[in-house]
Amino acid sequence: MWQRYKWLLLLTVLVTTVMMAVLWKTPPPETVNKVTGEADCWTGAGANQLPVGSEDSLIRYGRELIVHTAQYLGPKGNVTQISNGMNCQNCHLEAGTKPWGNNYGAVAANYPKYRDRSGSIESIEKRVNDCIERSLNGQPLDSSSREMRALVAYLQWLGKDVPKGTSPKGSGIMQLPFLARAADPAKGAIVYISTCQRCHGSNGEGQLKKNETGYEYPPLWGPHSYNTGAGLFRLSRFAGFVKNNMPNPCNYHQPQLTDEQAWDVAAFVNSQPRPVKDTRNDWPDIRTKPFDHPFGPYADSMSEQQHKFGPWKTASTRL
Ligand code: HEC
Ligand code: HEC
Repeated sequence: MWQRYKWLLLLTVLVTTVMMAVLWKTPPPETVNKVTGEADCWTGAGANQLPVGSEDSLIRYGRELIVHTAQYLGPKGNVTQISNGMNCQNCHLEAGTKPWGNNYGAVAANYPKYRDRSGSIESIEKRVNDCIERSLNGQPLDSSSREMRALVAYLQWLGKDVPKGTSPKGSGIMQLPFLARAADPAKGAIVYISTCQRCHGSNGEGQLKKNETGYEYPPLWGPHSYNTGAGLFRLSRFAGFVKNNMPNPCNYHQPQLTDEQAWDVAAFVNSQPRPVKDTRNDWPDIRTKPFDHPFGPYADSMSEQQHKFGPWKTASTRL
């Protein structure tokens, strides 16, 4: 009798162990959010997952340049002085890995690609230099420089598992729903004073780190900020970025601002003075201009004012 039970017990233990081993080994088909049932956002690999081989040193240097751009390329940069003192990471949060934090999830999978802004096929190098010349209000890097090769190596590595031609959920900046009215700089000023000023300063000047290159709190306007050709100068880019990431730190699961506050504070900040970039050659085919590009000529009859602040008609929108 006891013998039979012993065998049964042994068998049960054996079967359970095998089943557990199989379940353990099989990866889940896709990461699915248990609450919403939706596929989770793309999140890039962090510092601890960087490859460590000697042939991977460019990838590691690339990440370092994203995080501490000013130290290498800023006004007091130790490699060259070509940019305004901001770090790529100030706008591409967590080294470009954060869901809806203007991350780089769609870069390796989509470049080179045709872009309406330049009316040409752009390489990753060209796109990086776009941000250096506009967001960092600086001078382009030579494509063959170690710094450019490192930035590209990092971006390629970070996005290597994203299927070609696809943009994973959560990459880039979220497009917020439009307001029925124009975004209002006066209402935005109230948001700025109550929610942003304590870090970004009463003149949007930000605050430099003590005894270090780079900002503790980056500037939002004035001579050291992004210029009028930068992506954030478009209200939709600014509002979508800020909604899911500011006041720092917050994320898309628990945004602190309403959509209205995000649009209004975008209108306020982008009404302040900043470096001017000649954008006359942007969007050579004016029919492809995004709805919120604030500089004419346009293919429609809306004024520059309405293109900048809205209200935008959903029918005629190009994102
Ligand atoms: C002031 C903010 C800001 C800074 C600083 C900045 N960027 Fe950007 N970057 C943007 C915005 C805004 C976009 C466009 C996002 C969109 O339209 O969805 C962008 C887009 C990009 C893209 C294309 C992403 C894509 O999916 O097509 C790359 C690559 C990029 N930036 C690289 C860099 C690098 C490298 C640096 C530092 C040398 C940098 N950026 C600094 C704001 C910034
Ligand atoms: C607690 C401090 C804090 C508050 C409050 C805060 N920010 Fe920021 N903000 C930061 C920091 C720090 C960064 C850079 C993040 C990084 O480098 O990881 C940043 C980055 C930014 C950027 C991109 C970089 C740039 O300078 O252009 C924008 C735009 C921005 N904040 C807007 C806002 C707005 C609008 C508000 C108010 C709704 C706000 N922030 C509130 C700390 C703050």
